[in-house]
Amino acid sequence: MRVVFVSNSLDDTKKLALMISKNLFVGSVITLDGDLGAGKTTFTKFLAQGLGIKEEVLSPTFNILRCYFSGKMPLYHIDAYRLEDQINNDIGLEEVIEGDGVCVIEWSKFIVSLIYEPLNIQIIITSSNSRRFEISSEYSKYFDLLNDLKEMN
Ligand SMILES: Nc1ncnc2c1ncn2[C@@H]1O[C@H](COP(=O)(O)OP(=O)(O)OP(=O)(O)O)[C@@H](O)[C@H]1O
Ligand SMILES: [Mg+2]
Repeated sequence: MRVVFVSNSLDDTKKLALMISKNLFVGSVITLDGDLGAGKTTFTKFLAQGLGIKEEVLSPTFNILRCYFSGKMPLYHIDAYRLEDQINNDIGLEEVIEGDGVCVIEWSKFIVSLIYEPLNIQIIITSSNSRRFEISSEYSKYFDLLNDLKEMN
């Protein structure tokens, strides 16, 4: 199942992220892909707000993983950009992917074999302030969420 959401502003992206955050559950996994500057971290910041997270969400590029525990469930934010293909199982990312909270993964293509039953979000830059969000999943646990999103645009 697949839904397209057009965002023409940060406010639109916030609306989308808040709507998605309402439908998340323990074990949700979201992959976020798209070019540098597409809005993956920006989307995650709004998603964190929706989960009631109080801390500032920073890009995990140089840390690979950042964890936030002040919301209604834990948020694990992974940025796999610097892992490229050199992943080894010692890092323990599997524990937070499908862990006790929500896991969001930027540049998921670099750790594809570790990812379990995701909701996929592809962000395409259409102009300086506009983004096309392509949101899809083959897993029925996300179909209610995808149906809700259909009503939005
Ligand atoms: N409609 C929009 N939705 C989201 N971000 C937007 C939008 N319009 C402009 N932007 C801007 O695009 C930039 C997105 O940067 P962000 O760091 O979120 O990208 P990223 O995909 O995480 O990049 P990277 O791959 O480097 O981690 C921000 O400066 C944001 O303000
Ligand atoms: Mg980022």
